[in-house]
Amino acid sequence: MAQTQQSSRPMTEQVQKAVGTILEAGFQVEADAFKAMMEVAKGGDLDRLVIEVLKFSNASTPRPISINKDLVLRAAKSLDLMPGTVALPLTGLGHERRFAEDIESRLEIVSDPTGKLGTTGAFDDFLHYFRNRFDKMSTLFKQRLDTRSTGNIADALSGGTNGRARFICMVVDKREKAERVTLTVDDYDEEAVVLVDSSNQNLFRVARGIMRDQVIFLETRKSSGKFLIAEKIVLPEIPDRKPTRAKEEVYAVLISDVHAGSRVFLEDAFKRVLAWLKGELGEPNQRRIAGRVKYVTICGDLVDGIGVYPRQEFDLAVKDIYEQYRVAATFVREIPEHMEVILIPGNHDAVRQALPQPAMPRDFAGPVLDSRNIVSLGDPAEVKLHGVHFLLYHGTSLMDIVSSVPGFDYQRPVEIMEHQLKMRHLAPEYGKQTPIGPEQEDWLVVDRVPDVFQSGHIHVSGSGAYRGTTIVNSGAWQGQTDYQKRMGLEPKPGILPIVNLQTLQVHTIDFLSG
Ligand SMILES: [Fe+2]
Ligand SMILES: [Fe+2]
Repeated sequence: MAQTQQSSRPMTEQVQKAVGTILEAGFQVEADAFKAMMEVAKGGDLDRLVIEVLKFSNASTPRPISINKDLVLRAAKSLDLMPGTVALPLTGLGHERRFAEDIESRLEIVSDPTGKLGTTGAFDDFLHYFRNRFDKMSTLFKQRLDTRSTGNIADALSGGTNGRARFICMVVDKREKAERVTLTVDDYDEEAVVLVDSSNQNLFRVARGIMRDQVIFLETRKSSGKFLIAEKIVLPEIPDRKPTRAKEEVYAVLISDVHAGSRVFLEDAFKRVLAWLKGELGEPNQRRIAGRVKYVTICGDLVDGIGVYPRQEFDLAVKDIYEQYRVAATFVREIPEHMEVILIPGNHDAVRQALPQPAMPRDFAGPVLDSRNIVSLGDPAEVKLHGVHFLLYHGTSLMDIVSSVPGFDYQRPVEIMEHQLKMRHLAPEYGKQTPIGPEQEDWLVVDRVPDVFQSGHIHVSGSGAYRGTTIVNSGAWQGQTDYQKRMGLEPKPGILPIVNLQTLQVHTIDFLSG
């Protein structure tokens, strides 16, 4: 392919400049036109194309409001930039068109921490961070009828013996001994010790599930001493409701934990996923579904990274982080052009480790970001796909929750993710394995109730539903590493979850044994 000086600039930068020029000329750019320009950018003649597109648009009567794909392709053709330099799939020539190629993508970014992070880790930052969490969670409680009216800890302590109180508080410490859970709670004015014994088994079970730094609502009775006795514990919870569904039968494919560069990256299985997406593989119904896939999410750990855990170098096939992203790009580029790819980082990616993580930086992930049109966001992020609200979170804190709450097992990821929804928080406990950046805003609060909640990280796939929210752990595309063997961790990789956005049902295809 001919290289011009222009093509040495990053491709998305070229397209951004081109879009800017078109906007300045008073036209809007439709999504398909944007994609067509991305294709032409690969040939390196984008500046010429923009001039030609504007010539065509200005000559049209009536003058169009927006630039569409046809206009871009006509301009490209008149400059002899296609076919050949322009990829054919855009024109639909050479293969039977599939359903998802003919529908517009409806992607909306709801929340993304990228560009909004800036903690210095100073003591004051921690105060702001936890205060913001308390305020956000208090707002959630005040929206509920049963927890709308609250007092405070000071009132609870000043009442007489057996005096009852209701208040919102943060759990600053939790201890469990024999048949009793002791909670130290704080509401920014006063601190109290709250006892929960096992005489009420339900209450006791809820108390055992509480994590440090979590915000809860309590109904208490004052003891004859200085303690409060819990009579009711209310978690922030998500409401039981009907989720939003897409109006047409379109699908989202949920991927995470590719771990390109690992010695045990399941390359063959992953290549089968790509072949299936292209319509080259699968049973008739599986192919039919592939033809309706409009969105692909990649929920972190795209590459294996370097120095993530002790002796990782022995588990690596590609020891250079830049090369790992180049390898990853060769796979990402294969995802059919008409699908939207949404990418967030994980703890193995080359980006700040503290949550929330910003989008993957171009310095490392450039080859991936330039490999095709990609919506690159931070962790966690929220998007709407065909109107369906997705919460995308890599899942770094899932093992912390397993170690803090009795009864959880990483082999049952859906229960852990369900617990996050009940807590309305992705990683409450500070000081465990998951680093948390004390930002001005607590991005880990689940402010909005998602229709689909996706995580990865623990490499065990699974799906379920909780109060109207579809929960998916998208597993992994990496076999068991020596490190996981030493730690006794058994992954369940190679299983692809596919969400029908019209019904929110999750289909799976096993690409490892298939
Ligand atoms: Fe992973
Ligand atoms: Fe991970």
